[in-house]
Amino acid sequence: MCVARSCQATLAFDILNIRTDIKFVLFTGGFSSPCVLAESKPLSFENPNQPLYGHLSVVGSSGTSVKLRWVSGHADPQLVNYASGKFSQSTVTTFQKSDMCNGMLSSAADVGWHDPGFIHTAILTELEPSTSYTYKYGSDKVGWSSDQALKTVPAAGASNLTFIAFGDMGKASLDHSIQHYIQPGSLSVIKAVSTEVSRADIDLVLHVGDISYATGFMVEWDNFMDLITPIASKVPYMTAIGNHERDFPDSGSYYETTDSGGECGVAYEKYFQMPTREKDKPWYSFEAGPVHFTVMSTEHDWKFGSEQYKWIESDLASADRKRTPWLIFTGHRPQYSSVNDIGVASRLIPSVDPVFRSNVEPLLLRGQVDLVLWGHVHNYERTCAVFQGRCLQFPAKDSDGVDVYESDPYIAPIHTVIGMGGFLLDGFNLLPGNWSISRISNYGFSKVAVTSQSLHFELIASDGKGVQDSFKILK
Ligand SMILES: [Fe+2]
Repeated sequence: MCVARSCQATLAFDILNIRTDIKFVLFTGGFSSPCVLAESKPLSFENPNQPLYGHLSVVGSSGTSVKLRWVSGHADPQLVNYASGKFSQSTVTTFQKSDMCNGMLSSAADVGWHDPGFIHTAILTELEPSTSYTYKYGSDKVGWSSDQALKTVPAAGASNLTFIAFGDMGKASLDHSIQHYIQPGSLSVIKAVSTEVSRADIDLVLHVGDISYATGFMVEWDNFMDLITPIASKVPYMTAIGNHERDFPDSGSYYETTDSGGECGVAYEKYFQMPTREKDKPWYSFEAGPVHFTVMSTEHDWKFGSEQYKWIESDLASADRKRTPWLIFTGHRPQYSSVNDIGVASRLIPSVDPVFRSNVEPLLLRGQVDLVLWGHVHNYERTCAVFQGRCLQFPAKDSDGVDVYESDPYIAPIHTVIGMGGFLLDGFNLLPGNWSISRISNYGFSKVAVTSQSLHFELIASDGKGVQDSFKILK
């Protein structure tokens, strides 16, 4: 039975334009025995078709085109106006409840479902690399975004590239209201990355899996897209798929957990359309400045002889090391982590899957990968130049006390875990791997400045405490 007494209070909520009417409902009794005391009439958004969440991704390797995606409640094609007079018309897509995993009850196909509206895509062409442009998107019918500023990436073969990378970010609500899944560090990391993108010469951002943690609750994609817009509207936001985007039993994911809440990668691929070749084969490569990036899916079959295995092998071999001397490899689940989860019941699969490492690690050595970026484990860790658990080179300190790895001649990949982007942090085992050089459990992001001869990696805390770890690789 509801017990109510008369009182007065004010609560302020941060409400996103989710395109459909909303209602406020006042409960008592807590989550265990909720009881409705009052509810508002349905409230409509002034413009449910408003174009929102413009975010960029890399197209080709010349730096002369960039892809823009945004969300609107309206299906008619819209425009991007850019570079003082150019325009590009959008193609439009969406996804339905029936696209979510079926055959098993999931959040995505049940209580978590919410119409995502329409996702618009336009390619901005005839740009110059490493150049800033203004743009806006929308139409006279649905309205326009405010004026935005983007920067194109350096062309492949250019001598410099600076990028930011992290994994496992997620989201939280700005008004501190409760959602089904909150990542407590996300707001501070998003703010710190946004400041860095506005302040420094950042060319692109790389998010290495576990993107929004919407996990079947679709409005949380809106929440995440809203939070990253100050970053992703300015520079390309490149992604790798994680377990929380893809995994679900009997759906084609390698790991058969329910971690995607029934999304099975559908929502992820709609919001973040990377330069992949086919649907649900989310592995790809791209080049910018002196770097060839190879992005794998740790959530799809990577075993010896699989389609993805063969692709990784041929992609690494195809990198022209004269044009892009640096080869950076990334995916979600790590091959090295000093969090082994022994006795941790919350993880069904250990942080490092030995079968994954034994199958894929030889490809990285043969392909002469310089640096590997992983997520999934929620902290930061860096290895020696390592293969099969053995250090083949330890770094030496330079005159500034910074660890330096020599990579001429090539020795072995240096692995990093950069899953400190927002999810509740993991600690470390008392006895780390003997290949482990640096271990930090703080929220933050990595910033990597690459020239033709050197790669300078910094781990930057999001609480203002600055650089927590740094190292260089020299060619
Ligand atoms: Fe993960």
